[in-house]
Amino acid sequence: MCRWLLLLLWALLAGSAAGGSGQTYPHRTLLDAEGKYWLSWGRRDDRLAFRLEVRTAGYVGLGFSPTGGMAAADIVVGGVAQGRPYLQDYFTNENRELTKDSQQDYHLEYAMENSTHTVIEFTRDLQTCDKNDRTITESTVKVIWAYHHEDVGEDGPKYHSSNRGTKSLRLLNPEKTSVLSTAMPYFDLVHQNVPIPNKDTTYWCQMFKIPVFQEKHHVVKVEPVIQRGHESLVHHILLYQCDSNLNDSILDYGHECYHPNMPDAFYTCQTVFFAWAIGGEGFFYPPHVGLSLGTPLDPRYVLLEVHYDNPTYIEGLIDNSGLRLFHTTDVRKYDAGVIEAGLWVSRFHTIPPGMPEFHSEGHCTLECLEEALEAEKPSGIHVFAVLLHAHLAGRGIKLRHFRKGKEMRLIAYDDNFDFNFQEFQYLKEERTILPGDNLITECRYNTKDRTWMTWGGLSTRSEMCLAYILYYPRINLARCSSILDIMEQLQFIGVKEIYRPVTTWPFIIKSPKQYKNLSFMDAMNKFKWTEKEGLSFNKLVLDLPVTVRCSRADNAEWSIQGMAASPPAIERPHRAEPSECTSPSPSLHGNLSPGLLAGLTVLGSVLSSVHSGA
Ligand SMILES: *[C@@H]1O[C@H](CO)[C@@H](O)[C@H](O)[C@H]1NC(C)=O
Ligand SMILES: *[C@@H]1O[C@H](CO)[C@@H](O)[C@H](O)[C@H]1NC(C)=O
Ligand SMILES: *[C@@H]1O[C@H](CO)[C@@H](O)[C@H](O)[C@H]1NC(C)=O
Repeated sequence: MCRWLLLLLWALLAGSAAGGSGQTYPHRTLLDAEGKYWLSWGRRDDRLAFRLEVRTAGYVGLGFSPTGGMAAADIVVGGVAQGRPYLQDYFTNENRELTKDSQQDYHLEYAMENSTHTVIEFTRDLQTCDKNDRTITESTVKVIWAYHHEDVGEDGPKYHSSNRGTKSLRLLNPEKTSVLSTAMPYFDLVHQNVPIPNKDTTYWCQMFKIPVFQEKHHVVKVEPVIQRGHESLVHHILLYQCDSNLNDSILDYGHECYHPNMPDAFYTCQTVFFAWAIGGEGFFYPPHVGLSLGTPLDPRYVLLEVHYDNPTYIEGLIDNSGLRLFHTTDVRKYDAGVIEAGLWVSRFHTIPPGMPEFHSEGHCTLECLEEALEAEKPSGIHVFAVLLHAHLAGRGIKLRHFRKGKEMRLIAYDDNFDFNFQEFQYLKEERTILPGDNLITECRYNTKDRTWMTWGGLSTRSEMCLAYILYYPRINLARCSSILDIMEQLQFIGVKEIYRPVTTWPFIIKSPKQYKNLSFMDAMNKFKWTEKEGLSFNKLVLDLPVTVRCSRADNAEWSIQGMAASPPAIERPHRAEPSECTSPSPSLHGNLSPGLLAGLTVLGSVLSSVHSGA
């Protein structure tokens, strides 16, 4: 115990010189819109270290919550009161009632308060083995934050009223450092004077032409360009590659995306090659890889899609945000490529209503991969980042990887998918994909609040199940997906015969009588879906043979149309590794003894007075 005290003493005093514990944090983000609450964090082996720097002299709170609200959250509250630092582990129940946790898993490392700010630094285990704490994984986590101008008193923290909020983050993102010459040239793809409607959600799309280069360039970094003051308005940005055969006539105007009147040319832009989301940082390509521009295979026309979030219906906002692409003629060793792997986006992807969970799978099978890889890169391709993509009903996505019938570690996963937080996640280690490998994109949806079928499609109320795989060296494969047989699906609801030849879309049912002359979509909506029926349907669709479709970068499909491949015999759904908490024993650095706490408090109070005097 004595050694502990000395260590703390050392840590606290060492930190005092640097205005912090002296620790560096690889990640830092602003949590509020007013610029008052900064969160820094970094991984330390099996622990995560945090630094909160908040413009208040009262308490500051941080938590992890399933929905972004205060219910069922893991919360830590700290501050400096009368020169004494404090840090307390709390949790809330479903009714948002706050309780102090009997197992205190957050460890104060540094605290400071001056006339304007409170700074606290603390650590916790990723997995605390406390049922009241949330385990921190690679999945998205909804971080909640709050602060108050008063410190925590006898009765616990006072209600923070509007000084609170939530932000989605992936806390275990690998640390990427990259040195770029500051003078690197760039070009911007930014919207021009978009009038933001006074409604919750707007997706604004515009096509751009990539500058014409005489020689090959590599984009090595992409950064968001957010109009000042619009940091919380611009929610996410996607950049799609469009058909290269278009001409400049499509460049003139922006339009609301997925709107019935949107220009047809927009529909040719389907491959995401860059994604940024609020809370996300800029994207660096690995030092040996760049995104090629200026050769015939490269994007010429791109679509910029910006999601604006205007929950308080502010009127008259005009936005000019977008992306900045840094490029160089000093090209790197490899070209980056993107493969879209998952379910082919179509109305044949069907999800019944009222389901708390429904699983869909997209298969990128060896037939697709092998042909592309054997021709070009028999030694395989190397994946370095992945964007998992679904729409509003998406709850979880996994990218599974099979070799010779055996499942390897997941390439990427997010068990807490948040549509409003989409960005490429770097892999901790590059993953090689060899000829003969299979990939499965597995998606989990929730349609509890829907009364009608959900279909695969482009709008946000329709669904997708995709993984955009960023890899090198580039091969000529843009898409590798599967499509489900619709007739087998329709048999489930009792359809016997459809009108042939098919001349209308969606096609029409001939028999039985209850569906006669209905489109297949109307027929599926007419079926009385219960949760039980939904589950049986789910079981059926997961076992159906799939049709594989592959397409090249120039959009030429070389498939395998109609070629049915059976999915490999796999465990469904993918089961996470078993938790390592066998018995709920407190961690090694569990509860501090009262004596130690008192020591810490005295030390903190000395330090904090040093700081306030400075
Ligand atoms: C208080 O501390 C914060 C955070 O370290 C610092 O930014 C600010 O300038 C300090 N204010 C004063 C008045 O010293
Ligand atoms: C450009 O494309 C549009 C339709 O996509 C076509 O009508 C027009 O003729 C094309 N213009 C040129 C100059 O090729
Ligand atoms: C169904 O459609 C067919 C072909 O369009 C038509 O001949 C028939 O009268 C329709 N039947 C009913 C009951 O509407």
